[in-house]
Amino acid sequence: MDWSKHKIIETNSILMLIGILIVVSIGGIVEIAPLFWLSSTIEKVQGMRPYTPLEQVGRDIYVREGCYLCHSQMIRSLRDEVERYGHYSLAAESMYDHPFQWGSKRTGPDLARVGGKYSDEWHTLHMSNPRAVVPESVMPGYAWLSDRKIDGKDVAANIATLKAVGVPYTEEMVKQAGADLLAQVDPDGDGAEALVKRYPKAQVRQFDGNPEFVSEMDALVAYLQMLGTLVDFTSFDASGPNLR
Ligand code: HEC
Repeated sequence: MDWSKHKIIETNSILMLIGILIVVSIGGIVEIAPLFWLSSTIEKVQGMRPYTPLEQVGRDIYVREGCYLCHSQMIRSLRDEVERYGHYSLAAESMYDHPFQWGSKRTGPDLARVGGKYSDEWHTLHMSNPRAVVPESVMPGYAWLSDRKIDGKDVAANIATLKAVGVPYTEEMVKQAGADLLAQVDPDGDGAEALVKRYPKAQVRQFDGNPEFVSEMDALVAYLQMLGTLVDFTSFDASGPNLR
C-alpha cells in the first residue's frame, strides 16, 4: 500500500486539524441532527400545560432565590431515585420551562414531584424556618416571602414574553393573567372556574393562610404544590409510541 499521501496529512498540522474537524463534525451530525426530527425526543404527554400566572410568579421567585443551587428537578431513571421520588422525569415536564430547573446539586432533595407531598401549612412553616419542621435542616429560611405583596402588574407582560418564546399561552390567557393571578387564591371568587378551565388541575386556595393580600409565599407554595402533579402516571405508558 502507498502511504505517501497519508504522510502529507500526518506531517502537516493544519491539514491534520482540518481532517479531524471534518471527521468529528460528521460524527456530531449523525448523533445530534436526528434529535431535531425524532418525535420521541420530546414526547407529547397528556396533562402538561403552561403554568398559571401565580405558579409562574412562584417559579420566578424560586429562580430569584437560587433554590436550584440546592435542589434539582430531574428524577433520573435509576432505581434508587424512582423509589424515593417517583416516576423519572420526562422531557415534556420541563417543556415550558425558561430556563429549566434541572439543577446539578442536591444539598436538599429533588423537588420534581414535591407537589401534594406536604400541606400548604407545612410548606409555609418550612419556608419561614426550615428547622421548625425538620430540626436537622441546613436550608436557609425565607420568612420575608410572607410579607412581600404581589401586585400582578407585570404578570401579563411576563406571560406574553413566554408566549413569544414558544410557550402555548393563548391571547386570552395573556389578557386575563392579572385576574387569573388573583383568582387562584380566591376559591369563592368568580374567576376560579374560568381559571381552572384555562389551566386544568390548577389548585385554587389560600396557600399561605393569610387572606389579606397575595404574597410571594402564596406564589412559591402554589408553584411547589403543582410540581409533578400535571401528568397522570397511572395512565402514562413509558414505553412510548416509538419504542414499542
Ligand atoms: C443551602 C441549600 C438549600 C437552599 C438554598 C434551599 N434549600 Fe430547600 N432544602 C435543603 C435541604 C438540606 C432540605 C432537606 C431538609 C429540609 O426538609 O429542610 C431541603 C428541603 C426542601 C423541601 C422539602 C422537600 C422534601 O421532599 O422533603 C422543599 C419543598 C424545599 N427545600 C424548597 C426550597 C425552596 C423553594 C428554596 C428556595 C426558596 C430552597 N428550598 C432553598 C436545602 C436548601
